[in-house]
This record gives sequence, C-alpha cells and structure tokens, in this order.
Amino acid sequence: MVTTDSVIGEALAAEVRAQRRRWLVTGSAGFIGSHLVEHLLLLDQEVVGLDNFATGHRRNLEQVAAIVGPERWRRHRFIEGDIRDLPTCRSACEGIDRVLHNAALGSVPRSIEDPIASNAANIDGFLHMLVAARDAGAKRFVYAASSSTYGDSLALPKVEHVIGAPLSPYAVTKYVNELYADVFARCYGLPAVGLRYFNVFGPRQDPDGAYAAVIPRWAAALLTGRTVYINGDGETSRDFCFVGNVVQANLRAALTERADAVNQVYNVAAGGRTTLNELFAMLRHLAAREHPEAEASTPVHREFRAGDVRHSQADIAKAERLLGYEPRFDVATGLEVAMQWYGEFLAGVPSPAG
Ligand SMILES: NC(=O)c1ccc[n+]([C@@H]2O[C@H](COP(=O)([O-])OP(=O)(O)OC[C@H]3O[C@@H](n4cnc5c(N)ncnc54)[C@H](O)[C@@H]3O)[C@@H](O)[C@H]2O)c1
Repeated sequence: MVTTDSVIGEALAAEVRAQRRRWLVTGSAGFIGSHLVEHLLLLDQEVVGLDNFATGHRRNLEQVAAIVGPERWRRHRFIEGDIRDLPTCRSACEGIDRVLHNAALGSVPRSIEDPIASNAANIDGFLHMLVAARDAGAKRFVYAASSSTYGDSLALPKVEHVIGAPLSPYAVTKYVNELYADVFARCYGLPAVGLRYFNVFGPRQDPDGAYAAVIPRWAAALLTGRTVYINGDGETSRDFCFVGNVVQANLRAALTERADAVNQVYNVAAGGRTTLNELFAMLRHLAAREHPEAEASTPVHREFRAGDVRHSQADIAKAERLLGYEPRFDVATGLEVAMQWYGEFLAGVPSPAG
C-alpha cells in the first residue's frame, strides 16, 4: 500500500498537515496534477483544481475521489476552464495560498506538429497564470518546467545553469516559462520556483494516443500483447522519475522558507540513467508476472525520433541542498507501482490505489 507518508516522507507530511492551506493545482485532471491533488487532500488540505480536459481525464479525478474518500473530497473544488482565458485564471487564483501550475500541452512531437497550440497553452496560459497569481497575492508559484530546456547541450549530468539551444517548440515554451517567472520575481516580487521534471512516470499517465510517453505506451503494449517499438538502437538513456518524487519536490518547493531557495529552478529526477533497452527488459519482466506470454515479446527498432536528445541524466544536488529533496523511489520500485496500476486499469478494475 502506497501511503502519503511513504511517498513524501513522514516529516514533510507532518509539516503540510500542520496547517490547512488553500492550494490551486492547474492541470489537475492530468497525470501529475491528479497526484498533487490526491496527496494534498490526503494531507487534509483545501484544493482547487483547474483543467480543460485537453489531455486530462475525468476518470483521473474520479479515481482520486475514490482514494481520498468523500470527506476529504468535499475540500476539493474543480473548475473546468482554460488557462488561455485570463478571467478563468483570476477566478481560480482567488483566495489561493500556493499555486502548483502544471497545466500545459506536453510532448515534444505534439509541439513539432502544432507549435501554435503548444505556444498558446504553455506561454500565453503560463503568463495568465503568473498575472493571476501575482494579483491574488499567492505566496508561492511552483510551476512545471522541463528537462527539455537542456536542449542540445551534451554535458552530463545536467546541471541547472548549463543549458543548450532548444530542440523543439515545446522546449522553447518551457524555457520561456523560466524567463517569465524570473522576470515576475524581479519586477513584481512574485515568489516562484521552477521544477524541471525529467521523464516522469507512474499510475494514471495516459497510455493512449499518438503522444503517449514511452512507459505507459510500452506497459500497455506488453500487457495486451501488442508490439513494442523502440526509436533508434535502444541505447538512448533517460533519468526516469517516479511521480511520487515529483509530488515531494512540489511540496518542498511550495513550503520552503529559505529565501535562497525561492526564485530558482531545480532538476527533479531520480539522478540515474536507464537506457530504453534496459527499460524494456524491466517492463517485460514485470508484465510477465501476470502475463507469462509477455516474456517472449521482442521489440522492433525503428528510426530515431526528431527532437529527441541522446542521453539525459539530472544532477539533483541543487534540489537536495536547497529544498531538502530526496527521491524515495528508484526506477525499479516506481515501475512496479506503475505496472500494477496499468494491469488493473487495462483489466477495468474500478478505483485502484494510487
Ligand atoms: N510527464 C513528464 O514526464 C513531464 C516532463 C517535463 C515536464 N512536464 C510538465 O508537467 C506538467 C504536467 O504534465 P503531465 O505529464 O501530467 O501531462 P498531462 O497531459 O497528463 O497533464 C496536463 C494537464 O493540463 C491540462 N491542460 C492542457 N492545456 C490546458 C489549458 N489550456 N487549460 C487548462 N488545462 C489545460 C490537460 O488537460 C491535462 O490534464 C506539464 O506542464 C508538462 O509540460 C511533464
């Protein structure tokens, strides 16, 4: 059983529980946003969620409701709305203490396909949220930045102050977020923290659609007997990060009282490196526990994908030092939790544990 205390650590859980605050989670019907809502409610907080279901799902919110139970769910208010609309952002920010801004159009290929849509949600929407949070007097604005900001820099591991040229419109939008947050801190004193997420995975990450991430896509393929495709030779590597670590980083960033920890960006990852070939072997092994036929699955290699970097690994020392971040899930442990969820989800089991 994965509990909030085990996900974020007892001390941080106690710190959050000690005071009931009002949080706004944007992108709350999405993968990461729904985990933030889940854990905040389990920690007896009040939560406003904002999402337009562009890529999120009602089923994610229904699952959170089932996990937290009716009493805590009553402390949640959902606004179906769009961050591209400033009045919507303003009304969502009313009376809010901490903002966790996660609404965006994710995916590098999606942004290459339709840069205008990514720009509108990720830059216009981001700017609206900054203005709304500033005017509402939010005490902290924590936002989802991205490892894509490292662009064509070959340096490994990735250290926050060494970035390259962006390789996709998505990477541009996420870098512009950092620039805007920094300028809002300088011009208006808005206390902001950017979290550069590295390949996050876990329960509720969408396995469907053209822009699905690698872990949900492969998990679903292995569990349903479909072919797994690997882009390139499979020696591409990533710092895959379980979503529980991301929840922890958000809460630490939202609550830190260290002045030098605010108005910064941080890598949020596990600090390791897994190749796609290794990832495939781990997922196949987990899938074969319930579906022995998955053991025989062999992947099909195809072309490298445009805009992909070859290797990615985070240096997480800055988040450890200034935020006290300590990832509690390694890739193997996180994959077990995720695979159990995909197994139940694909079998149509109602309200599996997050
Ligand atoms: N998952 C990752 O590996 C990863 C890595 C780096 C950064 N990020 C960032 O983390 C955040 C959350 O990503 P996720 O993986 O949970 O993706 P997701 O697609 O599951 O969640 C994003 C949510 O934002 C909502 N949204 C999109 N446009 C919106 C709009 N105009 N108005 C209101 N809501 C809108 C979507 O409906 C969705 O529910 C995003 O900002 C993403 O760019 C994710």
